[in-house]
Amino acid sequence: MEVPGTIRAVRITEHGGPERLELVEVAVPVPREGEVLVRVGAVALNNTDLWTREGSYGRPGAPDALSGWRGPIDFPRIQGADVVGRVVAVGVDAEESLLGRRMLVDPAIHDSGGPGANPVGLMGSERDGGYAEYVTVPMERVHDVTESPLTDEQLAALPIAYGTALGMIERGGAEEGGTVVVSGASGGVGLALVQLARERGARVLAISSGSKIDSVREAGAHHVVDRAQGIVEQIRTVAPEGIDIVLDVIAGDFSGEGLPLLREGGRWVVAGALGGYDVNFDVRRLYLHNNRIIGSAMHAPRHFDLLVDLARRAGIQPVVAATFPLEQAARTQEELARREHVGKIVMHP
Ligand SMILES: NC(=O)c1ccc[n+]([C@@H]2O[C@H](COP(=O)([O-])OP(=O)(O)OC[C@H]3O[C@@H](n4cnc5c(N)ncnc54)[C@H](OP(=O)(O)O)[C@@H]3O)[C@@H](O)[C@H]2O)c1
Repeated sequence: MEVPGTIRAVRITEHGGPERLELVEVAVPVPREGEVLVRVGAVALNNTDLWTREGSYGRPGAPDALSGWRGPIDFPRIQGADVVGRVVAVGVDAEESLLGRRMLVDPAIHDSGGPGANPVGLMGSERDGGYAEYVTVPMERVHDVTESPLTDEQLAALPIAYGTALGMIERGGAEEGGTVVVSGASGGVGLALVQLARERGARVLAISSGSKIDSVREAGAHHVVDRAQGIVEQIRTVAPEGIDIVLDVIAGDFSGEGLPLLREGGRWVVAGALGGYDVNFDVRRLYLHNNRIIGSAMHAPRHFDLLVDLARRAGIQPVVAATFPLEQAARTQEELARREHVGKIVMHP
């Protein structure tokens, strides 16, 4: 396949509002040793795109400092972690057999090569991502999904949202027959949690709001509580026996007030803080009941392998809320920030 000399990409050169996203013409990236060049078929958006652009992650001891999730961002940066596309060129020592194959990209940069390695970087944050027509990726991060019945849009919905959800479920030890609570359930990660926990045979209680409640129920939740009306009381009413695992992307007051919902040995897995990062709770509720709080950042390689298997056999049907062209990246991020959608928002380069 002919690769052009220049490509269109959307990049940021400093932290700020959506107006910082600029459409530019840049030289096509050249795959380095062990890398491949992927023509982007679809790229999905994530909350991390907003926080990275804004610099909203803070730093230890300076919660309001402008920062990416791992520290300072090296500008200019092309955003976009969730990429599916075809390999169109390979670098030195990369496998030529990958040429022409449709690939799901694992966007994480891990701290070691082991199956349980920790993510310490991310495409679109610590290296350029898929808000572009082409992107380079290390060969070992691309996974062949050529035969998957899922569309490019559905596949692009998977890496961060479903990878994070699988990481939470695996780290929390979700078991068949257990009762789980999912917060932020209409969002990308939340809906993935609902679908995956249901697929594992858990009883799924979800938290959502307004008109999105019906969609969350359709995605597989056994019961949905409205976060506008006393979340903890509603959950206690439908699950008086207590909760095995809370899969939480909201934190804030919900974590502090909700901790006593856990039954003996229960786990609270937290992966997001849309409701606030400063959490107060009564520590006695933790140790007197052998409860655990587990922080969960994205996925380990072994979680991504599970995800690729699901993608290949369409074991999950990701929900795509809307698609936009790359030129409308700013509008697309604003759409994500409105949080009126259910599922994933995707762009086409
Ligand atoms: N740890 C990780 O590796 C990791 C990876 C991916 C994402 N995350 C984090 O997980 C969170 C969710 O990400 P996402 O991509 O799923 O976001 P999303 O698609 O925007 O969905 C978030 C959902 O949470 C609910 N919500 C929003 N603001 C809320 C608030 N103040 N209080 C309570 N509920 C609220 C809304 O659903 P309802 O209106 O239906 O309640 C919203 O649709 C973010 O904080 C993100 O940074 C973490």
